[in-house]
Amino acid sequence: MDLGIAAKTAIVTGASAGIGRAIATEFAQNGVNLVLVARDADRLSVTAKEIGYRFGVEVLPFAADVGNLGEPDRVVASAMERFGRVDIMVNNAGRACAGGIMAASEAEWEEMTATKLSAMRRFCRAVIPEMRQRHWGRIVNVSSIGGIYPNYRLMVSHAPSLEL
Ligand SMILES: NC(=O)c1ccc[n+]([C@@H]2O[C@H](COP(=O)([O-])OP(=O)(O)OC[C@H]3O[C@@H](n4cnc5c(N)ncnc54)[C@H](OP(=O)(O)O)[C@@H]3O)[C@@H](O)[C@H]2O)c1
Repeated sequence: MDLGIAAKTAIVTGASAGIGRAIATEFAQNGVNLVLVARDADRLSVTAKEIGYRFGVEVLPFAADVGNLGEPDRVVASAMERFGRVDIMVNNAGRACAGGIMAASEAEWEEMTATKLSAMRRFCRAVIPEMRQRHWGRIVNVSSIGGIYPNYRLMVSHAPSLEL
């Protein structure tokens, strides 16, 4: 599918597997240069090389935990240094986590809110000013159907999705 975004630059978080990898692959097929983010540097490097080799686009792997304060800014700064622009921001990193208020641990709650909600906010704040200046930008926040139909048994996963 021609998305009409050739030569744009995109950051995709959670890009070494699953939905993020599929998004990155589709973007690369459309001629988009990429900054790919995930924690496991080895798996990310393999993905970046495969996508870059297959579609002939530039791919910068950036190993980071998006939930850590400061990482979103560092990712965006690297993207700006390498490509001079961020046209498309895809906040996708994360995982499902079962559990309601009593079942989910404090650590799981902190992980979910940091990875989904705080990281999304920080990436948006880092890319929006430059997008506004250029009057072009796209932000995609990959959430969950739980953002529309919350399930209390998956509360720790669905609560951070509600505002997305
Ligand atoms: N698949 C579904 O049915 C479904 C349903 C509802 C919502 N979602 C949402 O869709 C998104 C993608 O899901 P998926 O099924 O494609 O997941 P996946 O196959 O498990 O892939 C998750 C990706 O995110 C990365 N990641 C996870 N935590 C991260 C962190 N803290 N910082 C940076 N990267 C991180 C993983 O790499 P590393 O582990 O190396 O970091 C991996 O690249 C998630 O946000 C998930 O909550 C999925």
